[in-house]
Amino acid sequence: MARDNYSYLSHLECPKCGLIYHSTGVQQLCSCGSPLLARYDLESLRKVWNPSSLQGREMNLWRYHELLPVREPQHMITLGEGMTPLLRMPSLGIDMSIPHLYMKDESLMPSGSFKARGAAVGISKAKELGVKRFAMPSNGNAGAAWSLYAARAGMSSSVVMPVDAPLITREECIAAGAELLLVKGLISDAGRIVAEKVKREGLYDASTLKEPYRIEGKKTMGFEIIEQMDFQIPDVILYATGGGVGLIGIYKALQELQEIGWISGPLPKLVAVQSENCAPIVRAWENQLTESVFWDKSSTAAYGINVPKAIGDFLVLDALYKTGGAAISVTEEEILAEQRRVTRMEGSFLCPEGAAAFAAARILRANGWIEEEEKVVVINTGSGLKYPGASAQAIPLLDPEDVWPDYGDKEEASSVTKR
Ligand SMILES: Cc1ncc(COP(=O)(O)O)c(C=O)c1O
Ligand SMILES: [Zn+2]
Repeated sequence: MARDNYSYLSHLECPKCGLIYHSTGVQQLCSCGSPLLARYDLESLRKVWNPSSLQGREMNLWRYHELLPVREPQHMITLGEGMTPLLRMPSLGIDMSIPHLYMKDESLMPSGSFKARGAAVGISKAKELGVKRFAMPSNGNAGAAWSLYAARAGMSSSVVMPVDAPLITREECIAAGAELLLVKGLISDAGRIVAEKVKREGLYDASTLKEPYRIEGKKTMGFEIIEQMDFQIPDVILYATGGGVGLIGIYKALQELQEIGWISGPLPKLVAVQSENCAPIVRAWENQLTESVFWDKSSTAAYGINVPKAIGDFLVLDALYKTGGAAISVTEEEILAEQRRVTRMEGSFLCPEGAAAFAAARILRANGWIEEEEKVVVINTGSGLKYPGASAQAIPLLDPEDVWPDYGDKEEASSVTKR
């Protein structure tokens, strides 16, 4: 099979109907409508690659370039993304009775969210394939990340976002020179507009899983977790699931590492976490279905997981079933309470999506699904800094003329930060 030394990318494969496609030109969905997955020449790679090959490589996600799709290093567009900390969470772990609790902290990524992984690899590969202009729908963070990487690559981008998406992500798109359109609706509405725009203007469709390479960037979270754990496998990984690409990606990474012989034994149980106000994957999993049903009137403060129906839902559910994982929803109150708790106990100002995943770990430990001795990794997908005003509370506002104002009386001298 075709390969070169930098990338062992071989071909694209449809996980639904099994059709095979070349990986040398632009490909979007399979003719059957399913996303395509990148496949590598793992047979050849396992003969020449081992964990010590990583020694001395730069601490970013390109250290795994053999299992990434970019064939020529000069096409790599990087802002230094990847190798985010895998932190022990000792105080929170005691509080939840999970002594081996870890956080994979994606808040340190460029643009403050894990979406930079998909953008770095997706944009680099698009550039390699000669793409000049793309369009995508986004709940905010992906559009921001793709706009920024597009700017660095000299590509032009069009992003369509729900009007309620976090304001700062709009600013990022505009600052990066993207064309930004807002829609009075959800990401599913934005998706329909993008599909039409792509058709009319002949653009590359960079929507979630409509191009095969964003997932390749996100899968590096799986490589990193395993490398950071010294090639030991954690027992449980929890992930706040919207489109589910991170979860599908982590599962794909683990399978690839298994195939090249870097890990063995059972894979971690993967857990998809959703808000109870938008829980299509949870409903499907509870009914043991292989696909989800569109969730009407969804809304959540964890904006990135407000996805009423994901194109890769069948891949998410497959990963849950195959790893003995679970899908669980949490309430909006649980999300915001957990965000405060994690920040107060561990000093990490995490995003509401990350907080949802911690809230789910707490529930699953309380009901015994997670056992005390298990090693549990929670992915914090982004920074709380991207959601200003989410934790509105009264703050004393002091008068500079008062030598010692009575700031105990919040009613009297206070301002309230609001969204
Ligand atoms: C901070 C954050 N977490 C999680 C998600 C969900 O990601 P995915 O679509 O890969 O499930 C998003 C998506 O926008 C996000 O912005
Ligand atoms: Zn197919």
